[in-house]
Amino acid sequence: MADAENLVIGCGGAIGGAVARQLLAEGESVIGISRHRPPLSHPRFEWLPCPSYAEIEVASLCETLSARSERLNRVVIATGMLHDAQHRPERRLESVREPSLMALYRANAVLPQLWLSGLLPRFVGQRHTTVAVLSARVGSIEDNRLGGWYGYRAAKAALNMLLQCTAIELARRAPGVKLIAYHPGTVISPLSEPFAAGRQRLTPEFSAQRLLALMAEAPRDGALDFFDWNGARVLW
Ligand SMILES: NC(=O)c1ccc[n+]([C@@H]2O[C@H](COP(=O)([O-])OP(=O)(O)OC[C@H]3O[C@@H](n4cnc5c(N)ncnc54)[C@H](OP(=O)(O)O)[C@@H]3O)[C@@H](O)[C@H]2O)c1
Repeated sequence: MADAENLVIGCGGAIGGAVARQLLAEGESVIGISRHRPPLSHPRFEWLPCPSYAEIEVASLCETLSARSERLNRVVIATGMLHDAQHRPERRLESVREPSLMALYRANAVLPQLWLSGLLPRFVGQRHTTVAVLSARVGSIEDNRLGGWYGYRAAKAALNMLLQCTAIELARRAPGVKLIAYHPGTVISPLSEPFAAGRQRLTPEFSAQRLLALMAEAPRDGALDFFDWNGARVLW
């Protein structure tokens, strides 16, 4: 059994999967969580299913994870949603609807926070743990010049505020934990696919590699940082 482990929540996604593979390639042990079994098989990879990301499933997995005694090196929360079969990003005010706003808020803000809150017992007492949550530059209020994508932008802005509250509390209760909000760039994935035609996109592997490099350098200063894939700070 390894004495340290890493947690990737959303290892079934393009970026989450790439983070898990990169960590394994670096010789790390990885626990991956996703709704469906990912195409990843490795002696240092353990998969834990979370079939619908319901609050009760998240709470139960957090309890299981908190019973583990290995050091926790890194946590990456790579889940999120921009569109699905029912919901498309809104281009104009007339398209803004409650079900879509709620679904996006749930997927992008509420769910990451459920993990962070549930993992508090796992965080307490850790000396060097870096936690990155996949946010997006479009969640930046200061950077918003184009408008549109009401639900997704608002949900990522809400995520950033939840992360700031969490960082303030962790600085007191789990000071060995560093929190990062990460903008991965425009990355080739099912999430970006319908909206990135003609745009240059990063590979998930490249963006994951940049994220892990940022995480390795992050100081344990109790502050929340919002970085993009290039290591530049993103405006709030
Ligand atoms: N791709 C981009 O250009 C881009 C740009 C900016 C920010 N991001 C952010 O990066 C993160 C990862 O995106 P990706 O590009 O890797 O997309 P992806 O390949 O489509 O993966 C989506 C991820 O979100 C999870 N997910 C899907 N629907 C969900 C729902 N309704 N509720 C909760 N989780 C759901 C999936 O879980 P499973 O693992 O269980 O399948 C998967 O981990 C997201 O937070 C996204 O907002 C992406």
